[in-house]
Amino acid sequence: KQSKTSQIRTPIVCVLGHVDHGKTSLLDTIRGSSVVDTEAGAITQHIGATIVPIEAIARGNSSLAKMQFNIPGLLFIDTPGHHAFTTLRARGGSLADLAIVVVDINEGFKPQTIEALQILRNYKTPFVIAANKVDRIHGWRVHENESFATTFAKQNERVQGMLETKVYELVGKLSDLGFNSERFDRVRDFARNVGIVPTSALTGEGISDVLMMLIGLAQRYMTDNLALSVEGPGAGTVLEVKEERGLGTTLDVILYDGTLSVGDEIVVAGHNQILTTKVRSLLKPRPMSEILIEDKFERVKSVAAATGIKVAAPKLEGVIAGTPLRVVRGENRDEVIEKVMSEIEDIQVTIADEGIIIKADTIGALEALSKELDAQGIGVLKAEVGPVTRHDVIEAGTIKNPLYSAIIAFNTPMLPDAVDTLAESPQVSAFESGVIYQLIDDYVEWRDEKKR
Ligand code: GTP
Ligand code: MG
Repeated sequence: KQSKTSQIRTPIVCVLGHVDHGKTSLLDTIRGSSVVDTEAGAITQHIGATIVPIEAIARGNSSLAKMQFNIPGLLFIDTPGHHAFTTLRARGGSLADLAIVVVDINEGFKPQTIEALQILRNYKTPFVIAANKVDRIHGWRVHENESFATTFAKQNERVQGMLETKVYELVGKLSDLGFNSERFDRVRDFARNVGIVPTSALTGEGISDVLMMLIGLAQRYMTDNLALSVEGPGAGTVLEVKEERGLGTTLDVILYDGTLSVGDEIVVAGHNQILTTKVRSLLKPRPMSEILIEDKFERVKSVAAATGIKVAAPKLEGVIAGTPLRVVRGENRDEVIEKVMSEIEDIQVTIADEGIIIKADTIGALEALSKELDAQGIGVLKAEVGPVTRHDVIEAGTIKNPLYSAIIAFNTPMLPDAVDTLAESPQVSAFESGVIYQLIDDYVEWRDEKKR
């Protein structure tokens, strides 16, 4: 059992990377390799998250078993896609304390990998790289669930050489992007160098090394951040807004601070408005085997940070993913409303006198896009969550400087009447993509073409 004095919050870990490079498999392996459901220290499934307690991580791992820990475990966010990361915003930064960037060692970096790295740099989030699918290297001999050092030592020279070459290709690419990196077992200073861990999510090789790196990063660099309370009024971030049969509109929330109980008054945010409501029920997913049972959820009375939980309450229809949730308890309601408002205003979208129009599907996505535009000196005149409307196109058409008559839509569609209006507005261009740097490249190319 953890002693009271040493108790700090569970670090939140987000998994990012290109489609099919193995994010979900990696989490499955982390879960599967250490699931023991009878005793304390069992891994628990929560809404949008999995908690892996430190005992479960250390079990059966001799190097970990020897280490001293002051974190209770790791909370992995399993929402698919890199997009989860940008939704997980909180307090003007990212809710994720740490990240794993998964890259297929045989394919190397892809657009979404690069985007993930840019986002992590902007948010200053420590991360490790899982250079995944090593078992696909020609001639690789599998040693299930072994550490990297053990399995690497048992490979022949040609395979070892091939792995080294592939790791150095990643090091080179990372250097182009401004990161110093090394194979993790050669890194001396983790504050300066990113560690690359060769892994196989399929065979479990190198997975214990990834966990050890994450724990090391959390213990060394994050203790202050993590010393948030596991008591007091709850604070969280809305991960998703979902319709559930029999429950109405519900919020999937990652609670990062304090407690949340049935009957609590909560403050949440919708489009241009703040809502207060009372928690009707708190719901946890039932174990996988019971998923077909009519009642998918188990009701609980109260939860403490950090965890994922589904919240049912009246009036949740207009709530936006990525916005904060706070409990009113102790301080008065107006103060809490004030806090939520300031957190939303805090969303770091710098609005310039001159610039383009940007749209995105969530607040976090808008923020991530805006940060990258800012870094490249591209002004933003208007930034909004939602699809591209006819009004946006008309507005872009009235922008005086023709180089800014553009709309960037990140992960959000164009409404049909916007498409029609765009067809009648030759001076306006709209760029759509699910990858930020693709959007920026396209815009810059269009702009530079116009300049000539
Ligand atoms: P998206 O959620 O679609 O972005 O993909 P993902 O990154 O979650 O990838 P996922 O875990 O679904 O893996 C994609 C495919 O790669 C699956 O068929 C996996 O079985 C396979 N795969 C993942 N990791 C490994 C690995 O280490 N080795 C091998 N050989 N296959 C792997
Ligand atoms: Mg996946």
